[in-house]
Amino acid sequence: MKRIKIKLKTQSYDVLIGTGLLRQAGREVRRVLPSKSSRVFVVTSPRVRRHWGGVLEKSLLDAGLQYVVLEMNDGEPAKHLATVERLAEQMVAAGADRKSLVLAFGGGVVGDSAGFLAAMFLRGIPVVQIPTTLLAQVDASIGGKTGVNLKGGKNLIGAFHQPQVVLVDPSVLSTLDDREFRAGLFESLKCGVIRDQALFDFMTRKAPQILKRDKAALLRIITDSVRAKAEVVSADEKESDLRRILNFGHTIGHALETVTGYQYFLHGEAVAWGMIAAADIAGAVGVCKPEIAEQIKTAVLAFGPLPRVNCATDAVLSRLTSDKKTVAGAVHFVLPQKIGKVKITSDIPTEIVRNAVDRIRNEQIRNHA
Ligand SMILES: NC(=O)c1ccc[n+]([C@@H]2O[C@H](COP(=O)([O-])OP(=O)(O)OC[C@H]3O[C@@H](n4cnc5c(N)ncnc54)[C@H](O)[C@@H]3O)[C@@H](O)[C@H]2O)c1
Ligand SMILES: [Zn+2]
Repeated sequence: MKRIKIKLKTQSYDVLIGTGLLRQAGREVRRVLPSKSSRVFVVTSPRVRRHWGGVLEKSLLDAGLQYVVLEMNDGEPAKHLATVERLAEQMVAAGADRKSLVLAFGGGVVGDSAGFLAAMFLRGIPVVQIPTTLLAQVDASIGGKTGVNLKGGKNLIGAFHQPQVVLVDPSVLSTLDDREFRAGLFESLKCGVIRDQALFDFMTRKAPQILKRDKAALLRIITDSVRAKAEVVSADEKESDLRRILNFGHTIGHALETVTGYQYFLHGEAVAWGMIAAADIAGAVGVCKPEIAEQIKTAVLAFGPLPRVNCATDAVLSRLTSDKKTVAGAVHFVLPQKIGKVKITSDIPTEIVRNAVDRIRNEQIRNHA
C-alpha cells in the first residue's frame, strides 16, 4: 500500500492507495473515527452501490462499525443543493450527531456533494473519501474542495473541507465505462505535463497497457498523479498561485463544457481538448517549442477518441471572458514551457486563442470523424 501525505497548515492527512484496499476500508475508517460510538453515514449512488457496496459494507461490518447507507444519483445534474439538503434531513432523521462521520463513496459528484454535506452538517463533521472513478481518484477527492452547482454555473457554492483520509483502490475501476475511464486519464496526463515528466513519458510509452487497465500501470499512474496533486495542494492550500497550475487545459476546457451545456463532453474530454489548445497557444507565442506542443497533442490523442468540438469558435471565446476564474477581466492560461514545467500567462492575443480553438475544431474532423 502506498501512502501519500497531504500536509496542510491546519490539518494533514493521508491518501492511501492499494489494489484491494476497499476490503480494508472499515479498518482505515475506524482509525479516524471521532469516537468509538460514532456512526458512519455512507453516501453513495445506486450504481456504485450495486457494483461495490457489498465489499465496502462487509469491511465496515468486519471492523465493527455502525453505519447507514444514503443514496444520491450521480452525474452532474444531481450535484445541487437540494440533494445535500435531502441527505442532511435523512441524517437528522437517522440520529446523526457531531460525532458522526460521512463516508463519500462514489465518483466526483458524490465526493463533492457528500464532502459539502459534511462541511455544512452541524457546521462541520469529519468526512472520508473513497473515490470510485479515475477522475475522482486522481483529482476530485484530493485537496478538500467540496461543493455543488447552481443553475447559474458549476461549483458556485462550496467550502474547503479536508477529508480525514482518502482511500484509493484502483480495482474498483474495472467496472467503469470506457469513456469515463479515458476521461480520467486526461487528468493524469495533465499532472505529467505540469510537473512530472517521467509520468508523461510513462503514459506515452504505455498507452496500450493503460487503456487495457493493466493493474501495475494503473497503480503507477494513479500514485504519481496523486503525488503531483498532493505536492501542489500541500504547498498551496487555498487556491492561489501554485494551485492554478492544476488548471492546465481547463481554461478552454471549461469554456467548451459551458458552451455545450455540460451534456456533451465529459469533464476530462473537454480538458483534453483544452490541453491541446493550450499547448498550441504556447507553441504559437514561443513559450514552448512547436515540437513540445505536438508531443502533448499526440499524447492526448493516444487516449482518445474524443467527441468532436462542434461549437462555434466565437461562443467559446466569449465564454472565456466570463469564466469565474477570470481575474479582473484577463483570461489566464497555463502554458507548457516543456514537459513537466508550466507557466501562467494572461496576455495572450485573442487572435492566437481564436486560431487554437479553430484548430481543435478542425482536428476532430481529421482524427475521429
Ligand atoms: N473537488 C475537486 O477538486 C474536483 C476536481 C475535479 C472534478 N470535480 C468534480 O467531479 C465531478 C465529476 O466526477 P466524475 O467524473 O467522477 O463523475 P460522476 O461522479 O458523475 O461519475 C461518473 C459515472 O461513473 C459511475 N461510476 C462511479 N464509480 C463507478 C465504478 N467504480 N464503476 C462503475 N461506474 C462507476 C457513476 O455512476 C457515474 O455514472 C464534477 O462534478 C467535477 O466538478 C471536483
Ligand atoms: Zn479537471
